[in-house]
Amino acid sequence: MPATALPAAIEEQLCLLVRERTGIRILDHQMDTLRRTVADGLTRFGHAGATEYLAALRAARASSPEHEHLIAGITVGESYFFRDQAQMAWLREQWLPQLIARRRAENNLSLRIWSAGSSDGQELYSLAMLLTEQLPDLEQWNLHLLGTDINAEALARALRGRYSEWSLRATPETARKRHFRQEKERVWSISAALRGHVHFAYLNLREDSFPSMLSETTALDLILCRNVFIYFDPTIVAEVMRKFHACLLPGGHLLLGASDLIDSGTLDGFSLHNLENAFYLQSRTFAPAAVEPAPAAERTRPQTPPLVVSHALPPTAAAASYEEITRLLGCEAWREALEATTNSRMRGDDSALLQQFRAKALANLGRAREALEACDASLARDSGDKHSHFLRALILLELHRLPAAEESLRRTLFLDHNFVEAHYQLALLQMRRGARPSGLKSMKNALTIAERAQPDRRLHDAAGRDHERMAAILRHELRMYESDSGYRK
Ligand SMILES: C[S@@+](CC[C@H](N)C(=O)[O-])C[C@H]1O[C@@H](n2cnc3c(N)ncnc32)[C@H](O)[C@@H]1O
Repeated sequence: MPATALPAAIEEQLCLLVRERTGIRILDHQMDTLRRTVADGLTRFGHAGATEYLAALRAARASSPEHEHLIAGITVGESYFFRDQAQMAWLREQWLPQLIARRRAENNLSLRIWSAGSSDGQELYSLAMLLTEQLPDLEQWNLHLLGTDINAEALARALRGRYSEWSLRATPETARKRHFRQEKERVWSISAALRGHVHFAYLNLREDSFPSMLSETTALDLILCRNVFIYFDPTIVAEVMRKFHACLLPGGHLLLGASDLIDSGTLDGFSLHNLENAFYLQSRTFAPAAVEPAPAAERTRPQTPPLVVSHALPPTAAAASYEEITRLLGCEAWREALEATTNSRMRGDDSALLQQFRAKALANLGRAREALEACDASLARDSGDKHSHFLRALILLELHRLPAAEESLRRTLFLDHNFVEAHYQLALLQMRRGARPSGLKSMKNALTIAERAQPDRRLHDAAGRDHERMAAILRHELRMYESDSGYRK
């Protein structure tokens, strides 16, 4: 039975609000779902009518129960393991073997994959299963497998890893045997070992900042964003595509869903490759920037763009002011910022701050080892700078050096106990190491501090985030970790 329509002006405003906050465009055939969600929300939250409900939503923060309820109601979370056989075959037979062989030859055992719009986690777990098939020495690898979504309930289910038989409909028998345990009739749970390799976090593709070291969305080999754009407003797709491009290493890949029709104008910087009934995108390499050559150990890494050796200082290269470098870093122009620090160094500047700027640019370009060197150089000049300690922690996390990263986070907090992001990263690290109670405690500490701070005060090291946004993300993630909500039907 169709749901009762709301006043046209209210429906229009609701659609606008959803589009503004999530990028999702509600089409005519989805209006019934919206109406039902609103009707349920009215009863659940005790609003007298749709006008009050809309006003409450407008005033509410993104992590408010009303907002979460609306998002959970209108997002389509349909997913299953090994979805899209053509893409899965390409990943299994071509992309992974080639990349793994290359990384082995480079003696760089690391892979970074992001499932954006991960729903209940089936997509990311499928990738983790493919990796276990192909990496007999899995434990030697530094794997970064990140799943993010706007639906906190879906994230909680992903974390829990319990699925219905229906979600396993395309799962090969060998994978089912190896990675699942049957809990009861038609209910399967993912092995703890596989769960230990992935990480889920709240990220709104419309509102949150990426690439960013804080959300671990930099220097990626592969992004999967499948069956998400199909619901998006096309103008917002273009913006997200541009940011995805910046998240990928040159030559990195992006997989969209077969139905995610995108405008050719949004393919800037990507080349399109057809598979049978599917396609993939590859990020084209950038024009080389005039930067110093990387040290030998790093030169083999594919993520570094082709380098132009510029030993002699170009007569026109002026040393950029610190304000200018800060501005470049602020707008995520990592290459230009790195170039500016190189020019300044050639002019004799070797300050702690310049090394810190350099470390930040290098880290965001995926050149983690060089970034660590620059960070250490900065700390050798000024060991009391909390930003350098925090940056060092992020770089060590990327290099999977967890005990050293924890020590750097603790130093940051020793210097400034109110450093929200350091508490947050410490929480994630503790969760990763299986220390769940300490992780939850650190996350609550972060939330208390974020809520106490002035809402619009910018965070130290998270592009685009202020304390209010961080508090919203923390509330989502706390709910996700604390939730014991069920599994998919
Ligand atoms: C149909 S599912 C796709 C799941 C998986 N990628 C797949 O292809 O099987 C779409 C997911 O995108 C998420 N989503 C929608 N808008 C989003 C946004 N603005 N930011 C992050 N995730 C979003 C939804 O919550 C939902 O879980």
